[in-house]
Amino acid sequence: MPISPENSPPQSEPSRWLSSRAASTRPFYVMELLARAADREKVHGASISMVVGEPDFPAPEPVLRAAQRALVESKVHYTHALGMPELRQAIARDYWSRDQLEITPDRIAVTAGASGGLLLVMAALLNPGDEVLMPDPSYPCNREFVAAMGGVVKTIPVNGESGFQPTVAQVCGAWTPRTKALLVASPANPTGTMLNPGEAAALAQCVRDRGGVLIVDEIYQRLVFEGQPKSLLSLGDDIISINSFSKTFSMTGWRLGWIVAPKAMMVALERLAQNLFISPSALAQQAACAAFTEESLAIAQGYRKRFREQAGYLLPQLQRLGFRLPAPPHGAFYGYFDVSDLTDNSYQFCLDLCDEVGVLMTPGRDFGDYQSERYLRVSYTKPIAVLEEGVERLKAFLNRG
Ligand SMILES: Cc1ncc(COP(=O)(O)O)c(C=O)c1O
Repeated sequence: MPISPENSPPQSEPSRWLSSRAASTRPFYVMELLARAADREKVHGASISMVVGEPDFPAPEPVLRAAQRALVESKVHYTHALGMPELRQAIARDYWSRDQLEITPDRIAVTAGASGGLLLVMAALLNPGDEVLMPDPSYPCNREFVAAMGGVVKTIPVNGESGFQPTVAQVCGAWTPRTKALLVASPANPTGTMLNPGEAAALAQCVRDRGGVLIVDEIYQRLVFEGQPKSLLSLGDDIISINSFSKTFSMTGWRLGWIVAPKAMMVALERLAQNLFISPSALAQQAACAAFTEESLAIAQGYRKRFREQAGYLLPQLQRLGFRLPAPPHGAFYGYFDVSDLTDNSYQFCLDLCDEVGVLMTPGRDFGDYQSERYLRVSYTKPIAVLEEGVERLKAFLNRG
C-alpha cells in the first residue's frame, strides 16, 4: 500500500528531541533580509549586496590547476589528521618569508576553514563552565564554538574609542578564576580594525599573567590596506593563531584553514582532529599547496589592492550620507557604521533599505548586543561600479521624504 499522509506512521515531534543548544543557537538576522531580497528581486531585479563576507574573485589560477591535477591523479584520499606534510611545510615557510617567524610545521594543524580551527581549539581548551572572553561586537559564530564545547562566553563591550578592540583594563576587569582564554581578531569582523602592536603585546602579557591563553583570529591579516603587519605569533610561542585560505585567496567554499598552536597542544589537537574530522579535505589541501607560490601570492595581492580601492570609494561616500565611522577599518572588507543619526533601529533600517531600494547591509545585532541598534556592517567585496549603483539607491532612499 503506498504511504499517504492518512496512513503514514505517527511522526515523532522534533521539538521533543532537539537539544537545548540547538534551540538557543542564535539565527543570523541577515537571513531574513536575504529572504526578503529574494522575493523583491522577482519583481524589481537584482539587489546591491553589501552583506557578504566573501571575496568576489575566483581562487588563483595555480590553485585551480593544482586541484584539477589532484582530481586527474585521484589524490583525494584521507590525509594526516593535521594536514598534508607538504602543505604544513608551505605554511611554515610562508611565516618565515613574510614575517621572519620561525614556525615549525609540527605546530601547524590544517583544518576545515578557520571555523574548523576555532571549534578544534575550543574542544582542546575548554571544560564545561570555562569562560572565554571576546569583544562585543565580534564574529557571531565565535559564541557558538565556545557554547558547543560547554564553555561560557563573556563579552567585553567595545566601541570606536578603542578601535572596537578590548583594552587591557577591560580584560583584567572581566577575568575570573573560570576564565581560560581571550579571543580577538585582528583585523576584526565586523569592524576591519586591528590591535596595534603595543596593545596586542600588553593583552598577551595580561592573559599570560593570569595563566590563560590568547587566541588571535588572523584570517584577514593579509588583507590589511597599508603596510604588512606581522602575525601576532611574534608575541610568543604561547599564542594560538587561527588562519584560513578563505579570504586571502578567495577560497571560501574550499573549506580550508589552519591553526598555529604551542607544541604542547599538538597531541591533543591531533587526537581531536582524528576523531572529529579524520582529516581536512584532501582536494582543498592539494589545491592550497599552490597558494603560497609567487604567482598565487601576486594574485592575492591584487585582490587586496582591489579591496583597498573599493574601501577608498565607498567609505567616504557613506560618510557624506550621514553614516558615521567611529573607527575606520585597517583591512578586510568591512566598515562598521554608526547610523544613529539616521535611525534608532539599525535592523529596521536594513529591512527598509532592502524593501524600498534593494540595497543589503548587515544589521549590528548580528554581531552582538552592545549598542547594536546603532550600527550596521557594510561590506565592499563588489566592484566599484556595483557600489556606485548602491550609493545612488541609498541617496534615493534617504531623500524619499
Ligand atoms: C573573523 C572570522 N573568523 C572566522 C571566519 C570563518 O572563516 P572560514 O571560512 O575560514 O571558516 C570568518 C568568516 O567570515 C570570520 O569573519
